Amino acid sequence: MTWALTPLTDLQREIQAVAKDFAAHEITPFTAQWDRDAVFEPSLVKKLGDLGFLGMLIPEEYDGMALDTLTYMVALEEIAMADASVAVMLSVHNSLPTQMILKWGSEKQKERFLKPMARGELLGAFALSEPEAGSDAASLRTQAVRDGDDWILNGTKAWVSSGTKGEVIIAMARTDTPDDRKGARGISAFIITPDLPGFGVGKKEDKMGLRASPTVQLHFSDMRVPGDRLLGKVGSGFIYAMQSLDNGRLGIAAQSIGIAEAALRHSVAYAAERKQFGHPIKEFQAIQFKLADMATKVSASRALLHMSAVAKDRGEHMTQFSAMAKLLASETAMWVTTQAIQIFGGYGYVKDYPVERLFRDAKVTEIYEGTSEIQRIVIARELYSKQKLF
Ligand code: CAA
Repeated sequence: MTWALTPLTDLQREIQAVAKDFAAHEITPFTAQWDRDAVFEPSLVKKLGDLGFLGMLIPEEYDGMALDTLTYMVALEEIAMADASVAVMLSVHNSLPTQMILKWGSEKQKERFLKPMARGELLGAFALSEPEAGSDAASLRTQAVRDGDDWILNGTKAWVSSGTKGEVIIAMARTDTPDDRKGARGISAFIITPDLPGFGVGKKEDKMGLRASPTVQLHFSDMRVPGDRLLGKVGSGFIYAMQSLDNGRLGIAAQSIGIAEAALRHSVAYAAERKQFGHPIKEFQAIQFKLADMATKVSASRALLHMSAVAKDRGEHMTQFSAMAKLLASETAMWVTTQAIQIFGGYGYVKDYPVERLFRDAKVTEIYEGTSEIQRIVIARELYSKQKLF
């Protein structure tokens, strides 16, 4: 397969500049404080919505910006460079719930949920994992049972990003029965809103990083869900979730690259200022080699992500390439931020400098939307099932 890596268009550069400017004025001045206080700033949703950033991939007929995936990735990287917590809110909203409603929702569902989501009036979330179902997502236990036209849902969802603020949550639940378990084919997707009777927000996680992104458990206790909240077909929810994660993982790759790029830039600046043995430490090869490797890995990750984004918009099968982009970018983010701490020495280990936060924020990119181990499994399976690379 041949992949063309084209230079950014005028529109792509324009959107990148808007994201950079927004980050400089509305995010960067507050990032350290939001991290320290574990605060999600609610006004961001409206502000990002006004820019069109909550409907980046949604067609104009549904009030979105109809941008291509590469533009979305470039904007996401700029936001992540300023604050990875804001980036994950954007990534989840743009890649998962909105795309799921766009792809599998009825016209009524699009009118009611997708349009206000695209305008930034309703924030989206995605609820697949459960306390006992993480990497083995198909083992989820939340049960949906038919009651007339409605469904009654019982269960607990875990690790839900934007969970305290999510107003439209796509939740996966079992619609097979204990007597007739159908595995991955026994799972359906539902559009959940917090006003449903029996909906509850549970424990808010006290996390190492991404502290300004609220991650919660959701409890469904005899939650009555109207029949018209079923998304697509009964039994297809797991497939929808997997296909959507093929998109979502590109967003996490962009977030990872933003984190890594920020750590690289701070390191380059610090190495020029910091003097030891009478010289700026950038003059020592030990530091130069680290900076060179950091820059190389960030560029390689970005190149793979951008190629994957272009391939997605050409309609290519994305499972393998989104897993590769996420794997490379997230491991790059962790490695680069580790090197950044080393370059900063003791100052990297304290909260006075941003690399400490970047290091903490990087870790989860190797875990959520599928761990690095799961990405490797996905890539290896694709090599054997399709042999697309050869
Ligand atoms: N696209 C389309 N269909 C897919 C697919 C994909 N990418 N991946 C799997 N499927 C289909 C399979 O073809 C199969 O369909 P059939 O029934 O027709 O055969 C079905 O789904 C079941 O697939 P598998 O047999 O491969 O399922 P599995 O149980 O072996 O699991 C897995 C596969 C890749 C390990 C999957 O469970 C997985 O990705 N796990 C990680 C879960 C994950 O990423 N969770 C993140 C949650 S979101 C989050 O992190 C929080 C947040 O908000 C940021």
